[in-house]
Amino acid sequence: MKKITKAVFPVAGLGTRFLPATKAIPKEMLPIIDKPLIEYAVEEAVNAGITEIIFITSHTKRAIEDHFDQNFELEEKLINSGKKDFVDKINRDIFQNIKFTYVRQKSQNGLGDAILHSEHLIQDESFAIILADDLIINNPSCISQLISAYDENQCSIIGLNEVPEHETDKYGMVSVEEPSSPSNSFLLKDIIEKPKSNAPSNLAVVGRYVLSSKIFKYLKNLKPSIGDEVQLTDAIKLMLYDENVMGYMYEGKKFDCGSRHGYVNAIQYLAKEILND
Ligand code: G1P
Repeated sequence: MKKITKAVFPVAGLGTRFLPATKAIPKEMLPIIDKPLIEYAVEEAVNAGITEIIFITSHTKRAIEDHFDQNFELEEKLINSGKKDFVDKINRDIFQNIKFTYVRQKSQNGLGDAILHSEHLIQDESFAIILADDLIINNPSCISQLISAYDENQCSIIGLNEVPEHETDKYGMVSVEEPSSPSNSFLLKDIIEKPKSNAPSNLAVVGRYVLSSKIFKYLKNLKPSIGDEVQLTDAIKLMLYDENVMGYMYEGKKFDCGSRHGYVNAIQYLAKEILND
């Protein structure tokens, strides 16, 4: 059984909700105190055994590339002024053997289109997808829980959580089969992107997936739908006709850092931990 070693990070989104902060810097670089949001997501992947990080990016997101590169000049200055601790923060041990790759998504055609841009790098392996906006705190991490569920079930797995009825138009929503014994894994029956009403259940897709490479077959030729964008959800729905896809009710605390509300909550939650470090 091949291990999950590749993770795709779609980061080409505009970050409109955080303007003017995101006029010149990517929303993924917004800090939670002193660490950018994207570093939390990459850390989560690396700690779950991922060794290849594939960013689907755009020309406005160069700062992400710089962030995961070495800054020799700064390192030298820090070393010369006896600030070795800071060098460890900007050149982290856990990222030493990680391969970072960047693929440009030329236009904002949606999450499905972003994922399709990674096909040549993923080839025929199952892979993880992490949407950095969803900051999820737990140990084992959310993606680690999904990878374990993938190892156990050998099929595509999607992270799920419950949402109130008035929020179903913000998420991919699913319906599932009730498991015969208590479990966090559910067989998916249906999935629909951001239904305005009549959601199939209160279970929403969170920004963590482990997908079979077969997803690319369904993403190709997919027409734009909600928001005039190519939706990953639509490809998963097509995949459901041919094979099992499971939903996994992860354990952990989620913050939607794509919204100002969630971002502030994340900072409040993590402040104590980080400032006591
Ligand atoms: C995306 C997906 C959606 C999912 C959500 C989780 O939407 O399309 O199905 O529920 O991420 O954060 P977005 O938030 O990018 O609009």
